[in-house]
Amino acid sequence: MKQLIHDIFKKFELTDFRKYQTFDDVDVDMVIDSTRYRISEREDIVSFLAIERDVYAGDTPWTFSHFEHEITINEHATFLTAESAGKIVGFVGARVSPEHQSVHLSNLAVSSNFQKQGIGSTLVKTMAELMRQLGVATLTLEVKRDNLPAQAMYRKLGFATTEILPQYYDNKLDGLWMVKQLQETRK
Ligand SMILES: CC(C)(COP(=O)(O)OP(=O)(O)OC[C@H]1O[C@@H](n2cnc3c(N)ncnc32)[C@H](O)[C@@H]1OP(=O)(O)O)[C@@H](O)C(=O)NCCC(=O)NCCS
Repeated sequence: MKQLIHDIFKKFELTDFRKYQTFDDVDVDMVIDSTRYRISEREDIVSFLAIERDVYAGDTPWTFSHFEHEITINEHATFLTAESAGKIVGFVGARVSPEHQSVHLSNLAVSSNFQKQGIGSTLVKTMAELMRQLGVATLTLEVKRDNLPAQAMYRKLGFATTEILPQYYDNKLDGLWMVKQLQETRK
């Protein structure tokens, strides 16, 4: 991108962050190790709920409406889908701050049969690279303190824990706030 998204949005008075999908130089649709990574669609949500039930022992922390809001309504959100042999096997969501300086990973999961194959890492890396290209400076997330597999993945991807969030979750479990710099903060 020749200009940062912040400047483009300001110049054209755009409010919907997802307008980035119409920019010529931003393209998220690629195949890595026979898995396709692409922008999510409303039709993917049923599969996302099945993935949630699979990885959270029958629970769905996010409902259909949560996903629908982030994929079709929230102008500051975007979602990526991972597809293997035509089957949806993972997703990652992100929400940018109003001025696009930082982005927060809102949700991430990979079907249990497809875990440990690099798909979770590629989803996060793809989202991070997209946001870096769009000029976003910082990527943040929160993760349960006992979710060691996810923490190991995030550390490998260059995230560092900057804060402990005491009793952050409904079950009073602590959270960790993790941060990765995508590029130098703009002055
Ligand atoms: C966390 C999650 C998305 C990782 O997806 P994945 O596709 O399995 O991750 P990757 O294959 O890219 O793994 C990358 C690294 O993460 C770590 N990791 C992943 N799964 C792990 C496990 N079960 N145990 C220990 N480390 C693990 C490893 O360091 C791994 O690198 P390696 O394969 O070289 O050892 C997946 O386990 C998941 O969906 N979990 C349930 C939902 C969840 O916890 N989401 C995150 C909420 S913050």
